[in-house]
Amino acid sequence: MELKRKDLFQTKAYINGEFIDANTQKTFPVYNPYSGEKIADVADCGAEETRVAIDMASEAFKTWRQYTGVQRSRILHKWFQLQLQHKKDLATILTLEQGKPLNEAIGEIKYGASFVEWFSEEAKRAYGDMIPGHQRDTRFVVIKQPVGVVAALTPWNFPSAMITRKVAPALAAGCTVVIKPSELTPLSAIALAVLAEEAGIPPGVFNVVTTNDAPQVGNEMTSNKKVKKLSFTGSTAVGKLLLKQCADTVKKVSMELGGNAPFIVFDDADIDDAVAGALSSKFRNAGQTCVCSNRILVQEGIYDEFIEKFTAQVQDQKMGNGLDKDVVVGPMIQEKAVASVESLVQNAVSHGAEVLCGAKRHGATDSLIFEPTVLGNVTSEMEIFNKEIFGPIAPVYKFKTEEEVIELANDTEYGLAAYFYSRDYARIWRVGEQLEYGMVGINSPSVSSTLAPFGGVKESGMGREGSKYGMDEYLELKSMLWAGIK
Ligand code: SIN
Repeated sequence: MELKRKDLFQTKAYINGEFIDANTQKTFPVYNPYSGEKIADVADCGAEETRVAIDMASEAFKTWRQYTGVQRSRILHKWFQLQLQHKKDLATILTLEQGKPLNEAIGEIKYGASFVEWFSEEAKRAYGDMIPGHQRDTRFVVIKQPVGVVAALTPWNFPSAMITRKVAPALAAGCTVVIKPSELTPLSAIALAVLAEEAGIPPGVFNVVTTNDAPQVGNEMTSNKKVKKLSFTGSTAVGKLLLKQCADTVKKVSMELGGNAPFIVFDDADIDDAVAGALSSKFRNAGQTCVCSNRILVQEGIYDEFIEKFTAQVQDQKMGNGLDKDVVVGPMIQEKAVASVESLVQNAVSHGAEVLCGAKRHGATDSLIFEPTVLGNVTSEMEIFNKEIFGPIAPVYKFKTEEEVIELANDTEYGLAAYFYSRDYARIWRVGEQLEYGMVGINSPSVSSTLAPFGGVKESGMGREGSKYGMDEYLELKSMLWAGIK
């Protein structure tokens, strides 16, 4: 591995400004999903280290909250600059532990850094309000204050950007943070801590607890009274569990959970645009994002043309080691992820779906690369219709009418992202307003941006990340009534 800044590759937890081993000296292995090789042994912390990190974050909160927004802004801005400056190294570490192609990893580092830049600016804008009083001599003043210590649990599919998307608004608001990165991808988190320290983020303000025992660390985070807010990105099943655990101490929560995104192509769409959009939305990160299109619904008049063009482009994608040039589809994260998509494909095929390409592992029988797959003749009765696929499988459904497709699209407990392609402006409004989703891409596959609120409805979660709304998740409103103004 060629890194310019070799010190970005660290394997210890980062608590109160120090890189530390686990109290037990235990470590856990991290593997490269492409080669299967072990790339590091990382500190395996438990409840005790988590408690210390929370205590330290609670102490640090007393001073960090006193910094002015401008002071916090400057420090965050420096962190942003360092991330961009070292993007190639950060991306290399990310590809090594996660598998996504290097260009995509560089894209993730820039995407992640954009949250730090954005919230470095927002740090100065925690504006309050003045409300005329209910009596002549009164006025209400509403101020925004940081919630306190934040615990964040972040996923393996975006090992860097999902951290900055939570940490940047929290720090901008004046909160301090303890994060637990996924045990599959802890190295990107620790690299961010190296740069956080270099940027001048004070000890205790940003802490990284690495562990192979997520339930133990998660339990400490959800039960500890000093933690005032929990932010989680991951599966709906784990999100529900964390919500229950947070109930006892009534924590503020943000949940960015699973999705089952419909990608609808109407007869009046620009087909080439829709094909390009479906390709990009479906195969980003080998299909392992919660906003990847999960059900491609194509109107009957253009179904054959769409299928033909789409399948040709899907087959054309180069698979392999994310560090190799031109590779666009890397390995999936681990064996059980591949087994899960294999089982979905088998179920669909046994119920009449047609394999148009892919549907098998690439290369060796134990390879974690699953070939980009298109399935035709898929119906809503198949298991794949209701499941979040989280892999490079594109099931294509045929529909007849607008009413039918809206019903199909909304027929899921999820409500994160949806996409549709049409050139009829009245239809665009009708469909856009009827889709029960937090984010809708109209003639575009790219709903993810620092500039817009990211988040879902229904069982896809609660709260929004990014945008002018993102910092509110880490702020409490306080209303102060002033009387005696005579
Ligand atoms: C996710 O899959 O969790 C996030 C995807 C994104 O930010 O685009």
